[in-house]
Amino acid sequence: MSKVFEYLEREERTIGKVIGIRFYPIVVDRASGSKVWDVEGREYIDFSSQWAVTNLGHNNLEVIEAVKKQLERLVFSSHTTFPNTVGIELAERLVEITPGDFKKKVWFGLTGSDANEFIYKIMPIYSNRRRLLGFQGSYHGQTMGALSLSGHKALTRFIGFPNTIKAPYPYCYRCPFKQQYPECGLLCLDFIENNVIDNAPPEDLSAVIVEPIQSDGGVVVPPTEFIPNLYKICKDRGISFVVDEVKVGFGRTGRFFAVEHSNIAPDVISMAKPMASGFPLSAVVGRDEIMDSALAAHLFTSSAHPVSCAASLATINIILRDKILEKASRIGEYILKRLNEIHGEHRLIGDIRGRGMILGVELVKDHRSKTPAAFETACLVFRAYELGLLTTYVGTYSNVIEITPPLTIGVEDVEKALEIFEKALDDVEKDRVDKEKVKKFSGW
Ligand SMILES: Cc1ncc(COP(=O)(O)O)c(C=O)c1O
Repeated sequence: MSKVFEYLEREERTIGKVIGIRFYPIVVDRASGSKVWDVEGREYIDFSSQWAVTNLGHNNLEVIEAVKKQLERLVFSSHTTFPNTVGIELAERLVEITPGDFKKKVWFGLTGSDANEFIYKIMPIYSNRRRLLGFQGSYHGQTMGALSLSGHKALTRFIGFPNTIKAPYPYCYRCPFKQQYPECGLLCLDFIENNVIDNAPPEDLSAVIVEPIQSDGGVVVPPTEFIPNLYKICKDRGISFVVDEVKVGFGRTGRFFAVEHSNIAPDVISMAKPMASGFPLSAVVGRDEIMDSALAAHLFTSSAHPVSCAASLATINIILRDKILEKASRIGEYILKRLNEIHGEHRLIGDIRGRGMILGVELVKDHRSKTPAAFETACLVFRAYELGLLTTYVGTYSNVIEITPPLTIGVEDVEKALEIFEKALDDVEKDRVDKEKVKKFSGW
């Protein structure tokens, strides 16, 4: 038996299935830059960044150096009671780099879900309004409050907490109102304003939480006017505007925060995944009055972990110093252009979309009916893995390949990855993939 399967067998005996979304058999041993090696030394190009976490590449040496220094100085103090220097320094930095000239403060956690749990728990306390509005297709996390705000089927299958309302997200390729953008005049927004929010009722609506790009929902990029107009609707009614930047923040879209493309300053931003280059850390940055609205109401022993905070400070410095935002825009545009070039040659490709270095390729059985090609998507991701490329798929219909490479990936790896991607797609279309092997992996 190969080492990979030996480990996977051990995993199956010891680690509960509740933890996994699996697309192919891999056990990671080491990684560097945009490369990952499995326990047998097989090399892969990582076009996933481990669910958009390793934005600066795996094992970024400067981040490791900052972490080593921190480890020697202070591994742990519980920020709840014994504040540490790096936590405070990072909070100052986050206040500086987030949009909005108003006074802000920071809360720290460990993963995206706990940051969005903050939203569910604290926003109603702050506003003295009980309800929250989220979006169909959204993914805000697996804890009870975060999942209650979410509209992705991975989360709506649970019975969540009450007082959340879900509105349709502008998924133009599959418009819920069967309209065509821009002729539609954003009918969806009109519906959200006049039917959803104004019936909520608005005076009991505490906050709207929205992903600037719905990532797990299928890399859905809303029309340019959507976010600013939604913001205005909220402001007119005293509703707080919250954006979830857990996946798209920290440079992925070519701006530090994706919401900056919309030129608005949200009242609250949640962030996590890439913010500490792989060390567990999340944060919520929001208006002073929100962040101070409840005493000791959302705290974890390991919040503002000094090692993660040191990694995050280094991450921010590198992003800004090395012009990573410009790089993400440039490489992202290049990948998009290359994908668009092959669009017409592949019957399975229904839509290609994205911004910066979060790109989605939606597969359909035929272009007229747009029937989702979910199994073909699973086959493509599997075949790409066999050929040495790591990708994942997302989407309400499990039919969107998500492309989120490290923002630091080199041209050579991009070319090789795209070559593999096209070969894998070709193999799926020509029925050259072992379907029985694919069926062993449930995906999501
Ligand atoms: C937009 C968004 N918010 C929140 C989360 C939850 O983050 P975590 O898995 O770190 O708890 C995710 C995870 O994929 C996400 O994509």
